[in-house]
Amino acid sequence: MKILVTGKNGQLGRSIHKLVNTDTKIDNNQSSNEFIFVGREELDLSSESGISHYFDNNDKFDIIINCAAYTAVDKAEKEQELANQVNHLAVKQLAGIAKKQKAKLIHISTDYVFDGESDKPYTETDATNPINVYGKTKLAGEQALKEIMPTDAIIIRTSWVYSEYGNNFVKTMLRLGKERDKLNVVSDQIGSPTYATDLAGVILEIIKNKEFKEISQATQIYHYSNEGEISWYELAQEIFKIAKIDCKVSPITTQQYPTPAKRPKNTLMSKGKIIKLDDLKQIGYKKSLIAALNSIR
Ligand SMILES: NC(=O)c1ccc[n+]([C@@H]2O[C@H](COP(=O)([O-])OP(=O)(O)OC[C@H]3O[C@@H](n4cnc5c(N)ncnc54)[C@H](OP(=O)(O)O)[C@@H]3O)[C@@H](O)[C@H]2O)c1
Repeated sequence: MKILVTGKNGQLGRSIHKLVNTDTKIDNNQSSNEFIFVGREELDLSSESGISHYFDNNDKFDIIINCAAYTAVDKAEKEQELANQVNHLAVKQLAGIAKKQKAKLIHISTDYVFDGESDKPYTETDATNPINVYGKTKLAGEQALKEIMPTDAIIIRTSWVYSEYGNNFVKTMLRLGKERDKLNVVSDQIGSPTYATDLAGVILEIIKNKEFKEISQATQIYHYSNEGEISWYELAQEIFKIAKIDCKVSPITTQQYPTPAKRPKNTLMSKGKIIKLDDLKQIGYKKSLIAALNSIR
């Protein structure tokens, strides 16, 4: 199996790479999987011709895992065209290529396709209604993918991703917590954090699944995050507690912390569908946060 992973320098791309290198069960030799990791240097999703050029000049793939995305939520409000190209048009093009190559496509999407007004965890069939440009472009990507690939693709919506790599809330808090003795953090946005290593593990479980590899199935959307419900304020407190950082955190409202892009209030997602798919174990956010903080330190 030839497996292409895009976004090799991103949090999820690097987490998949880490697991492929360390987990002997998915070792390249044992499972005869060959992973090819590409970043924007090899496959630039902002360029239609660049995408065509890459696939025209490489052998066919059996699975494409699209971890690349335009993820700068606030910047996207100004760079709408670029965000739309990477999160929507490039996904549409990748779906067309995957279909032509008879490859399976695993694409990652976001909780920001929802408006956050629900008081219950979102299911995969709940109505979408993104409230910022990033969410709109990611939803357009999902829709284009489903239209082009009604079978053989999987969309995984995730939320609040952090890892030892790149920039994320956990690393920002660690830095600020050491620089300052008090910090204000938004307390009226609720969600579930996702340790990128856990999501990477889920993706690798899916590609090990014989049915996924061998049988053509209707394209599905799944939700995945760690288990647990928390606000950014509470998450900051947890981080400082685990990392033993002495920094006082005070709750503030979203209104007191205006950002260029609106943020949904509640993006909890139900994970039952993906858990059933591969008999996965749900991982509580605290356990993963401890693991990540150990790894970061
Ligand atoms: N981070 C979150 O909190 C979060 C939440 C919900 C959903 N998601 C979704 O989860 C997936 C993985 O996110 P992540 O946290 O791993 O994101 P990330 O760390 O920002 O990584 C995204 C990667 O995409 C690459 N990329 C951006 N523009 C590109 C282009 N024009 N051509 C090729 N590559 C390009 C970036 O390349 P460079 O490294 O060169 O910039 C980066 O390596 C994405 O689909 C994202 O939308 C993320």
